[in-house]
This record gives sequence, structure tokens and C-alpha cells, in this order.
Amino acid sequence: TMHTHNFVILPHVLLIFSTADAYFGYGVIRCLFTSKDDVVYLAQVYLNKMLLGQYNSTLGKYVGYTKKTKEIADNLNKNKGFLEHEKKNKEKCRTNIPLVLDILSRPVKPIVRLRLVESADSKHPGLFMCSAYNFYPKQIKLTWLKDGKEATSNVTSTDELPNGNWLYQIHSYIEISSKPGEKISCMVEHASLTEPKVYDWVPITEAGKNKIAVGAAGLLLALVFPIIGVIFYKRKATCETHKQKKPQTTKSETPHHHHPEVVK
Ligand SMILES: *[C@@H]1O[C@H](CO)[C@@H](O)[C@H](O)[C@H]1NC(C)=O
Ligand SMILES: *[C@@H]1O[C@H](CO)[C@@H](O)[C@H](O)[C@H]1NC(C)=O
Repeated sequence: TMHTHNFVILPHVLLIFSTADAYFGYGVIRCLFTSKDDVVYLAQVYLNKMLLGQYNSTLGKYVGYTKKTKEIADNLNKNKGFLEHEKKNKEKCRTNIPLVLDILSRPVKPIVRLRLVESADSKHPGLFMCSAYNFYPKQIKLTWLKDGKEATSNVTSTDELPNGNWLYQIHSYIEISSKPGEKISCMVEHASLTEPKVYDWVPITEAGKNKIAVGAAGLLLALVFPIIGVIFYKRKATCETHKQKKPQTTKSETPHHHHPEVVK
């Protein structure tokens, strides 16, 4: 299938007027292509998202869409230098195509996370979530496995959601009642992977929980220690100021008490 690619080489802000109404003007250089032999180069000027005028390489000239920009376009079209310059820009578009196609053709591996959203209890099965982040291209397949066998019931999935930066994410859920010792896995198939990759659910054991608890305690201490330091410093500083007030005679040694070195 023919696919039009659109890449913007040089978006740049031309002018910003700040008056009672704010105007936002900018210029965009676009290259549209379906192949190396079918390239359209556009240099466009917008004001508040409205296209005022553009150079279109297929027409080989500037076109204005308002009274003012029509005048400007007419003048620009009389200038051989400008037209030559735009022709060169179109060639730049053409020479950049392999680079763009290369980027578009390179698959990006997903980052996969498998987690238990809701533990199973006597009434409800457990709810697991398998998420794949930051992959390209869009096509991906997530499959749930229970002890290595495909599980298809009670599965729901989001669409491939665009991240807004050419990359995608997807989330799949399974509601499943698993007995202890049963293995729940999420299998990912994607163009970036030479073979399907299986991610096993690893329940957090007691030992694991302890590690997390110790880790959290360490983090807490790291957070609290500087606070203690600050309180200590403040106390000390107020003490020193009180002391200073009393003996008027020892003027010479005054200012150094407030030096940050005291903190330690
Ligand atoms: C550029 O000009 C060609 C030829 O007139 C036209 O078919 C095409 O739609 C124009 N492109 C844009 C984006 O205006
Ligand atoms: C699907 O969900 C229903 C209701 O929660 C449950 O009874 C059933 O066992 C589930 N199916 C599988 C294969 O786990």
C-alpha cells in the first residue's frame, strides 16, 4: 500500500507579536513523499494556525492566501534567487528520504511489565496486567499463558495507544484464578524481537517483601537525615545568636557561626 510520509525538517518560529490579542506566527518546512521520485516540498507560513501562504514545489512557486500574502508571494515569485533556493531545498528533502525511511523501518523493542493488579480471594479471581511500552511499529501481540498454555478467557486489551512520539503502548488484562505453583506468563510478539519473548509472573515472596521494607527504611532514613541536619543547624544557629547578644566584648569572633560548615 502507498503510504504518504510527512516529515518536518525545520519548524521555526518566525514572529510572535504580543498585543491585546496574542498572535502566534511560525514557519514550517515539510517534505511529503511516497517514494524518492514523488516528493513535495512545502515551505509554509502560519498565523494562529491559519495557513497564510506557502511555497509548493509541485507548482514551483509561492502562493498567498490573504491579500497581504498574495502581494508578498507575487514579489517572491519574481525573485530568481528565492526560487532557486527553494529548488535546492526540495533536493535536500529528496536526499534525506533514505534517512527518514531508515528511522521508520527500524523496530523499537517494547519494555514489558507484568504485574498483579488485584490478588485473588475466596470470591474473585486475580487480575493481572501486562503492559508493553515504547515500541515501534504499532503491530504487536500479547498472549497470556497459564503453565505455558494459552489462556484466552477473561482477557481484555486496550488498543495500541500512540505515545505521541512515534512509539506505542498497549495494556492487556486477564482475570484468572490460579492455584499456588501455577505459572502465569505474558508472551510478547513484535517485529523488534527475533522470537516471542515470555515474561513470567514472579510472586513477591516474604524475603522479597523484607528487602523492599529494608529498602524503604533506607530511603526514609536518607530523607529524614538531612531534615535532622537542618533542624540541628537551626537550633544551633539560634543558640549562637542568643549567646552573641550577651557579651558585647567578644565582637571579633562573631560572623563565622552562620557558616554552612556548622551543619555537619
Ligand atoms: C501542491 O501543488 C499541487 C499541484 O497544484 C497540488 O496538487 C497539491 O495539493 C499542493 N499541495 C498542497 C499541500 O497544497
Ligand atoms: C473467567 O471469569 C469467571 C468469572 O469471574 C470465572 O468464573 C472463570 O473461572 C474465569 N475463567 C477462567 C478460564 O479463569
